[in-house]
Amino acid sequence: MTGRLNPAGHPSWWRHAVIYQIYIRSFADANGDGIGDLAGIESRLGYLSDLGVDAVWITPFYPSPQADGGYDVADYRAVDPVFGSLDEFDALMAAAQGRGIKVIVDLVPNHTSSAHPWFRSALAAAPGSSERARYIFRSGRGPGGAEPPNNWVSVFGGSAWTPVPSPRGQPQQWYLHLFAPEQPDLDWTNPEVRREFESILRFWLDRGVDGFRIDVAHGLVKDPAMPDLDERYPSRGPAPTGHPYWDQDEIHDVYRSWRAVLDEYGGNRMFVAEAWVASTQQLARYVRPDELHTAFNFDFLRAAWDADELRAAIDSSFESMAAVGAAPTWVLSNHDVVRHVSRYGGGEQGERRARAAVLLMLALPGGAYVYQGDELGLPEVADLPDEVLQDPTFLRTGGASRGRDGCRVPIPWSGDKPSYGFGPGAASWLPQPPQWRELSVTRQSERSASMLHLYRGALEARRRHAGFRSESLQWIDAEPGMLAFRRSERLTCLVNASELTLPVPNEVRGAEVILASIPLRDLERLPPACAVWLATAGGGADG
Ligand code: NOJ
Ligand code: CA
Repeated sequence: MTGRLNPAGHPSWWRHAVIYQIYIRSFADANGDGIGDLAGIESRLGYLSDLGVDAVWITPFYPSPQADGGYDVADYRAVDPVFGSLDEFDALMAAAQGRGIKVIVDLVPNHTSSAHPWFRSALAAAPGSSERARYIFRSGRGPGGAEPPNNWVSVFGGSAWTPVPSPRGQPQQWYLHLFAPEQPDLDWTNPEVRREFESILRFWLDRGVDGFRIDVAHGLVKDPAMPDLDERYPSRGPAPTGHPYWDQDEIHDVYRSWRAVLDEYGGNRMFVAEAWVASTQQLARYVRPDELHTAFNFDFLRAAWDADELRAAIDSSFESMAAVGAAPTWVLSNHDVVRHVSRYGGGEQGERRARAAVLLMLALPGGAYVYQGDELGLPEVADLPDEVLQDPTFLRTGGASRGRDGCRVPIPWSGDKPSYGFGPGAASWLPQPPQWRELSVTRQSERSASMLHLYRGALEARRRHAGFRSESLQWIDAEPGMLAFRRSERLTCLVNASELTLPVPNEVRGAEVILASIPLRDLERLPPACAVWLATAGGGADG
């Protein structure tokens, strides 16, 4: 397949940016309470600039009871004291932007916290009131409304409905929460809800943010008939078309109105949607020209370490995004999934594949996301003791799922004992494994073969080589198990995703190696699980 995303060329930074995801609780803790904070991020901006990222996306830092790591927002226009203050946010943003790093904040529109003043007043008000109409309250089924209104299930396990005390003699009322009970879903058919979120967008745009990551972007609108789920529509996993609460058509009206708000502001600002839908065609609808700019491509993340699967994910994303003129995005890990070193098999094998995978990802046209700690090759921490687990999934599934804490363990920065420089002392809200001492930023800075050096070198080469500026991708013939493509005449990427040593395609033999995921003896054959970037046709460094 050959594709051109945007032949006219596009100045928009997010079409090719490398965006670093900061999971704030676990990045850097300035005040020593064991929880990362805004001041901690500011203290590490030098690190991010040396790493060479274009932007940061910071996960929610708003006032929140933290029932779901801050994705339960009680006030959308303030900072939780545990993370700092609005002044500290402004200072961090100014310092980041001063270094040329853009700042994206997380917007959580599907649900508020149950501690949000709107939800409190909804509980205090009567069924049928305007206060309740901001959320999704319904009468239960069966005698007295004792059964939930339908069989919808929470993503975190259990029913998606929770009963509330009802006036004597009236049927039981329930409210909907697609996630935890502490995260009641808003009713997006209510114009007041829409006005409020446009005002929240403006609040952060007026402060100068460069963009928004939209949480659960596929969930806002529900089928008004609220039919029961049946076997066609799984409660978990990517949403197929027609699902009663994911990816409803009317959702796109919301994004059209948001786009109009964003476009009133200058300065090239962007949206990125988190939408777990089943096909790239569904995803492409979120990034039509008058909607959002980009959306995470989870097919790439979900693909196994297998050349055919990876290529299929790349092709389908590329084609469906090109059809609407949007740039694709690529992501290997985030705070909701098992870290990719572990997904790819863990240990040396996982690390070796992860090294090749990042060169693959960064060679693809489009934007790329790096989750904090990817650049250190951090594995999933699978053996956290039960008593420290905080993800609501763990409790709501009765322990059947251990949840997502294993990918959220605080970053090791330096030193010989916990918290390995995460904070000034030993405190960290999740314990770090002792092996992480060797994975710290300081240790890896000293080792030229480290994952950190690979990331720094790759980001530097991506900026320096003109070949990365094209928006096209052209596959070249290679052995089964090998991915081989040109970004332009100047730049070729080869990835051996097999378990065998494979010959390099003839046409690139003799090219100049820009970067390889492991040391290569020659350019005749590529060892298993390895990737290489080649300067072809005299197209080395420039610009
Ligand atoms: C997606 C977020 O990434 C995840 O961490 C959160 O639990 C859910 N949305 C609910 O807000
Ligand atoms: Ca702190």
